Amino acid sequence: MQIPIYKEAIEIISQDLRSEIEAGLLAPSASISPKFLYDPLGSHLFTAITLLPEYYPTNTEKNIFAQYRDQIVNAVGTGGTLIDLGAGNCEKAESFFNSLKPTSYLAIDFSVEYLQDALKKLEGKYPHILMQCIGMDFSRQLTIPAFIAQSRRTFFYPGSSIGNFLSSEALELLSQIQKQSIDGGLLIGVDLMKEDSILMAAYDDPLKVTSAFNLNILRSINSHLGSNFRVEQFRHKVIINHSQNRVELYLEVLENLTVSWPGNSRDFKKGDLIHTENSHKYTIESIKQLLKNAGFKTTQIWTDPKDYFAVIYAK
Ligand code: AVJ
Repeated sequence: MQIPIYKEAIEIISQDLRSEIEAGLLAPSASISPKFLYDPLGSHLFTAITLLPEYYPTNTEKNIFAQYRDQIVNAVGTGGTLIDLGAGNCEKAESFFNSLKPTSYLAIDFSVEYLQDALKKLEGKYPHILMQCIGMDFSRQLTIPAFIAQSRRTFFYPGSSIGNFLSSEALELLSQIQKQSIDGGLLIGVDLMKEDSILMAAYDDPLKVTSAFNLNILRSINSHLGSNFRVEQFRHKVIINHSQNRVELYLEVLENLTVSWPGNSRDFKKGDLIHTENSHKYTIESIKQLLKNAGFKTTQIWTDPKDYFAVIYAK
């Protein structure tokens, strides 16, 4: 089922997005929010990233899910509503349908077109699960609409997407989840701090899929804003910021240039950087503290043998 959105609302949203993009581009250190990475092509490129041998988070998380499936299901409990944050292709949630047996499934993502295709395929396979989807930018505010089942909610936030947020923003989102969980909880995947060489290979892969994913944000911005970014004038760049415990993605400007869009423009110099993403890495202690600060009382934690990644159920 698709939730109807009034045309007026859509226009307010996109006007809002345009001013957000513009503010980032005009800031002294230019930046673009990582949510713009996930246009239809970007979403497919991200799926390709998850298939790279160097990109350890997806496989590691998958192995943890597989190895501890029974314990996880035991902790979470069956039935209720499964709310998938950043559902994408819905594959990870689907892997829990037969064990968690949710009565309803709500998929939320920024890119609703991609979501609808994924959900169409799922509906036929699981006719007993009520499926709904919403296009929502929950990086600003997470509000589950009142017409969504008021039964026990399990929020599902895998893949370490929480890593995109600064700790203050992560705290805000986790608190909103905690307040709306109605006696349920949060099943979350979190990437852990590790050696630079492993991080570098994962975020600057030799096949250049991550480079394509990062550069594609410029085309995504061109279509939202009507700007004239040219992909060939930029290069993917990765910096590991140890003091902030994160991997940072940038687009480096290769020559002096001017980018224009209706109503404004920005000059860039060769060597300038546009910041496109932060991917924060946690320790078990730091994520436990964050969840506690967000109001969760208990946590159960599963990790892989190398301690690359953690799956946590917080209640
Ligand atoms: C989807 C935010 C978890 O930070 O690893 C992958 C995105 N960016 N490669 C991550 C991403 C570059 C990914 N998250």
